Amino acid sequence: MSSTNRVPPPPVPDPTKIFQRGLFKGKVVLATGGGSGIVMEMVKALMQLGADAIIISRSKEKIESSAADLSRETGQKCVGFSADVRSPAQLKEAVDNGVKELGKIDFVICGAAGNFLAPISALSENAFKTVIDIDTLGTYNTVKATMEHVKRTHGAYIHVSATLHYRGLIYQAHASAAKAAVDALSQVIAVELGPFGVRSNIVAPGAIMGTVGMNKLSKKKDGEDQMGEAMLGRWGEKSDISSIACYLFSDAGAWITGQKFVVDGGELHMPPQMTSGNFPYPQAVVDPASVVGLIKSRL
Ligand code: COA
Repeated sequence: MSSTNRVPPPPVPDPTKIFQRGLFKGKVVLATGGGSGIVMEMVKALMQLGADAIIISRSKEKIESSAADLSRETGQKCVGFSADVRSPAQLKEAVDNGVKELGKIDFVICGAAGNFLAPISALSENAFKTVIDIDTLGTYNTVKATMEHVKRTHGAYIHVSATLHYRGLIYQAHASAAKAAVDALSQVIAVELGPFGVRSNIVAPGAIMGTVGMNKLSKKKDGEDQMGEAMLGRWGEKSDISSIACYLFSDAGAWITGQKFVVDGGELHMPPQMTSGNFPYPQAVVDPASVVGLIKSRL
């Protein structure tokens, strides 16, 4: 904490304490990439609030063990199927099997993603295409495999995107292009499926602790550098993302579609001079008198 005037970080949300128990009773959520990380945590929160779940990822062993964990921890039904989102046939089979077990699909989380750091000079055409195939085509394939089910229930989609592509980010040409396309796709889904009572929104997480993305894309260990200071005073937690999923899938989100929700503690609005240390942030705002040499205005 760089200044005693600064208030403590906001609490880490617990969706089960914010939202009413039984909120999603009778609902079924299907999630790709649902066997780990942020997406598994989103599914868990929806299940704790009453939903049953179909989760899909590539590894059969991992997805079946994650489904068993989710059922045990929440007391709800969860079935896991292995499928590569790049394969429409595998996805269709997983969706059909899921519907056979749980009867229907109300909500879909398109969460499967692949990423790594590489400059364009070291990115082969196949490497670029691989990430486009997983993120963009994978989202498209998931929508194609589920949309008739979701039309029947007047349900909703959440696509887990990113903020990488809002600016130019080095080593992220592949993922930036892929996620920009996912954002565009979500808007078209919102418009094409709106008349069928289906909503589609984007959730774009910032830096979330304890995720593959954070471990792969950052050298920082949990809360170790000053970004925690520069934003709302802490890094993101998976439950920050679960909470917005509960909000968007609940009736509170009934009139929200075709939108993007950035959940990053304000990081996107931090100008580089703040994080590079030229301005001692947050000290400069919570105690301007202490940095009076930097500014010419009257305090
Ligand atoms: N730098 C540069 N190129 C890389 C790379 C890296 N770190 N990792 C993989 N590639 C390239 C490979 O060399 C290959 O290209 P080539 O055929 O020209 O050599 C291409 O990407 C495909 O790699 P492959 O390992 O065959 O693909 P895959 O389907 O098994 O794996 C990944 C896909 C690479 C995206 C893998 O990281 C993945 O599946 N991750 C899933 C989880 C994840 O990353 N989540 C992150 C969320 S932010």
